[in-house]
Amino acid sequence: SQSVNDPQLITTVNKLQDVFATVGVQNPIDLPQIVVVGSQSSGKSSVLENIVGRDFLPRGTGIVTRRPLVLQLINRPAGTNTANGDSKDVGLKGSTDSAANLDEWGEFLHIPGQKYYDFNKIRDEIVKETEAKTGRNAGISPAPIGLRIYSPNVLTLTLVDLPGLTKVPVGDQPKDIEKQIKDMVLKQISKPNAIILAVTAANTDLANSDGLKLAREVDPEGQRTIGVLTKIDLMDDGTDVVDILAGRIIPLRLGYVPVVNRGQRDIENKKPIQAALEYEKNFFENHKSYRNKALYCGTPYLARKLNLILMMHIKQTLPEIKNRISASLQKYAAELQGLGDSILGNSSNILLNIITEFCNEYRTVLDGNNQELTSMEL
Ligand code: GDP
Ligand code: NA
Ligand code: MG
Repeated sequence: SQSVNDPQLITTVNKLQDVFATVGVQNPIDLPQIVVVGSQSSGKSSVLENIVGRDFLPRGTGIVTRRPLVLQLINRPAGTNTANGDSKDVGLKGSTDSAANLDEWGEFLHIPGQKYYDFNKIRDEIVKETEAKTGRNAGISPAPIGLRIYSPNVLTLTLVDLPGLTKVPVGDQPKDIEKQIKDMVLKQISKPNAIILAVTAANTDLANSDGLKLAREVDPEGQRTIGVLTKIDLMDDGTDVVDILAGRIIPLRLGYVPVVNRGQRDIENKKPIQAALEYEKNFFENHKSYRNKALYCGTPYLARKLNLILMMHIKQTLPEIKNRISASLQKYAAELQGLGDSILGNSSNILLNIITEFCNEYRTVLDGNNQELTSMEL
């Protein structure tokens, strides 16, 4: 799949949520949140945007991301939006976003009830809301911006975009800017269920990577840190990241993924995400250092890795989920016996069968992915 939103995984999780909803258990799987960390302008926002597969984040040289953005992706089946683009809604009619449709929209926590169908307008609002709290002169704020994206094509999952780590205060930034940003980042990546994307530009020294250093503070074993190497296209001729990928420089258990995002000129020219992914693919397939391992390079591979980690997480929570099912069933069985109604008794059996069948199907899917996990040596 091109984005983190693998259709098979979405279907699987949705089925699970549905089965649980029928027995009264809401949100049985608490998927980990994905957090990007790294130096300013290392490409964090670009990486996040590519794995979501839509254009909506402010990106650029300098300190662009100045408040945390907590992005909740929410899966919602197509055709269930009751709105029809009324006057309150932003951007369905006269949209500048060619992908706009009624099934995918964003909603900000600070503007409840207003639906944004044009993802360019979402970016405008992020910029506006950032300036509202931080001014225009490079100020930062730990107050997160909350954004929900509803779509049939996403996993219900949270991603967090963060300001970059900086050392020297500029503009209206306070003297202790370094500590302020560090505390903000630590707060997000300390959560044991956070998957950390430690982003480092490949044209800088890995040993000085702020993202990796901070990730190691909260995840010393590297159990939930993926290294992402950006700007491979900007490396000097004759240099490459092959030694890093092979784990010969700073080994990481979950490894590194090299990517090529859109450059500043691409942003200015509004290069579409699809064209960028195409360019990235060609870049790795034709580069002499990477062409024999192009499958393990680029955004689609990063998304795949994330999907497998999510699968593994679901698998680990499966025993607990099963306990919750049987507890619910026992409770219902007891209630039904109290009622002494044979018809209800029957429907309880049907439900039990559905769940059993589902669990078997689910295990097959997980085992299939598990084999792939092992062979990837994740
Ligand atoms: P952030 O500050 O870490 O969120 O970084 P951004 O995503 O805003 O990107 C910072 C700048 O680096 C922008 O001008 C991007 O166009 C550029 N950039 C990011 N990744 C790459 C990449 O892989 N290749 C090139 N050429 N430019 C990149
Ligand atoms: Na930036
Ligand atoms: Mg950013």
